[in-house]
Amino acid sequence: MRILLGVTGCIAAYKSCEVLRELQRAGAEVQVVMTASAAEFVGPQTFAALTGQPVGTALFGDAVDPIPHIRLAESCDALLIAPCTANVLAKLACGIADDLLTSTALACTAPVVVAPAMNVHMYENAATQGNIAVLKRRGIHVLDPDSGYLACGDVGPGKLPAPHDIAAAVLAVLDGGARPLAGRKVVITSGPTVEPIDAVRFVSNHSSGKMGAALAAASLTAGAQVTVVSGPVSTAYPQEARVVVVGTAEEMLRAAVGEADDADAIICAAAVADYRPAEAREGKLKKGADDAALEAVRMVRNPDILRTLAEQRRRGQVIVGFAAETSDLADAAQRKLASKGADMIVANEVGGGRGFGADESRALIATSGGIEEMSLMPKAELAERIVDRICALLPETS
Ligand code: C5P
Repeated sequence: MRILLGVTGCIAAYKSCEVLRELQRAGAEVQVVMTASAAEFVGPQTFAALTGQPVGTALFGDAVDPIPHIRLAESCDALLIAPCTANVLAKLACGIADDLLTSTALACTAPVVVAPAMNVHMYENAATQGNIAVLKRRGIHVLDPDSGYLACGDVGPGKLPAPHDIAAAVLAVLDGGARPLAGRKVVITSGPTVEPIDAVRFVSNHSSGKMGAALAAASLTAGAQVTVVSGPVSTAYPQEARVVVVGTAEEMLRAAVGEADDADAIICAAAVADYRPAEAREGKLKKGADDAALEAVRMVRNPDILRTLAEQRRRGQVIVGFAAETSDLADAAQRKLASKGADMIVANEVGGGRGFGADESRALIATSGGIEEMSLMPKAELAERIVDRICALLPETS
């Protein structure tokens, strides 16, 4: 097991020595890459002595290897960056590769684990939180910092977790411990549906697909094979997910039913248009000449995809629905749990800037076991919690 340890420039850099020792105690061969700022805190010689390997500090000037970042990226089973500064987090989120560590990270196809450590205000800054959400969406394992008395005197989250916990997180990623959905298939409906009135007009809604994308990323990180059945959105789904793009609710239903057969979990996060025009007219209805037809567009109910999938479920399948509400989330969630035949309803607050298109969500999760209220959190984090709860509901595989 070869682990590449990236060390960046903050006061917690000295703790990397202990992280390194923990990894070695677990049997890992560790090599270290440092940023220039990290070398201001701990000398490369310290890591060279602890690892018995040269320490990577520069993209250029390696007499033996003219492209060290590629060799380093290809030769490790996991890349751990601990501590990771706000600056390096931001570079990773943007794909900036301006030194040996960030170039190696960009070239690395092995699992990447990042342990942020910084001042509480830097950690809580929207820019940092946004960067963490981006990295999580890409399947990078971002550890939560510990909370406490920080080197700068402030108190709050931002401390590097205990070396033993960091090493344990890396080992869990490597041995599949953090991949509880390995061998499982998750189907996610996402985005809006689009119901044509004529060749150019349609009825739809503002769903962005962000929650579906976050759920796809969290399911992939947990090791699942993921299919997203999505209405048209501009949000990008993770590359490793299979994406089936549909237009209408009826198309979404057909695609979802087709995918559901061998699915272990189905998450209906799509904002399906409840009604569609009874008739989709060929060509464009003309203002004036077709006023009567346009003024009298008759709407009919669309199929309920979630309910249909729940009715057709195969044994052991976990089915999750959403409820977008402006008030009384708990009541709505409990009612929908029964009326839809789902195992879990995630009720989230919409309106007042929340819900569609937002990066954060306040939600509660209802199951037959009760209601769990969540605080306002990034959709990436909510998705992780939902996937955790799904894992708990899935039957053991034989
Ligand atoms: O009934 P309501 O639209 O509030 O239920 C929301 C939940 O049902 C979501 O999970 C949504 O994806 C799903 N749904 C569906 N098909 C519909 C309407 C809603 O799958 N036609």
